[in-house]
Amino acid sequence: MKGVILAGGLGTRLHPLTKITNKHLLPIYDKPMVYYPLETLVTAGIDDILLVTGGNNAGDFLRLLGNGKEFGLRHLNYTYQEGEGGIAEALSLAEYFVDGEPMVVILGDNIVEKSIKSAVDNFREQGSGAKILLKRVEDPQRFGVAELDSDRVVNIVEKPKEPESDLIVTGIYMYDPSVFDFIKKLEPSQRGELEITDVNNLFIGRGNMTYEILDGWWTDAGTFESLYHASTLVAEKNL
Ligand code: G1P
Repeated sequence: MKGVILAGGLGTRLHPLTKITNKHLLPIYDKPMVYYPLETLVTAGIDDILLVTGGNNAGDFLRLLGNGKEFGLRHLNYTYQEGEGGIAEALSLAEYFVDGEPMVVILGDNIVEKSIKSAVDNFREQGSGAKILLKRVEDPQRFGVAELDSDRVVNIVEKPKEPESDLIVTGIYMYDPSVFDFIKKLEPSQRGELEITDVNNLFIGRGNMTYEILDGWWTDAGTFESLYHASTLVAEKNL
């Protein structure tokens, strides 16, 4: 199982903090943001990891993380996303690295309280298709919102004005390598990006998508509010 961390983008929602550095290098309590998704993957037993970055200061990731020794890794892979083509476009850069294996993808600003190891193990047993991790939140309109029919996800709507439910799709996705064929079929959304929600809906259409509800707290950190909230959650966990 390979791991992919998506840590590109220009982080414009966090200007001026991100004018001179990459969002994923900003502090969450006592560590740079990117440490958390990296620890999440390593704790789930994944040690072959690609970091996709982009925008400004991409070289700082190499200085900060090196070969991942601090995380118990012997090697860490890096690649660079030009421009702001979206999450799915960033993931497409991992095709060569993934080399036909299943993968866990995590957004570089997603921070979880507990290990995702059991979900990753379940996906390994699933063998093909995709798995997403869902969470109930108070502000679902900020996210991809999942529509369930008994025990299946039947649709995901990206940032709906009037969400059908409070169950959102976190930035932790598990895919078989057919994800790269789906990405090639995508058209850019209204915001000009290749959307990961469109990829997930293609897996749903093929009847090959499972989900689990994430255990413990979860947050993203891409806005001032969530960045502050993330630091508070991590601090409370550590204290
Ligand atoms: C992205 C996805 C969204 C998902 C969220 C999780 O949103 O598009 O579906 O719920 O990550 O963090 P973005 O942060 O790019 O607005």
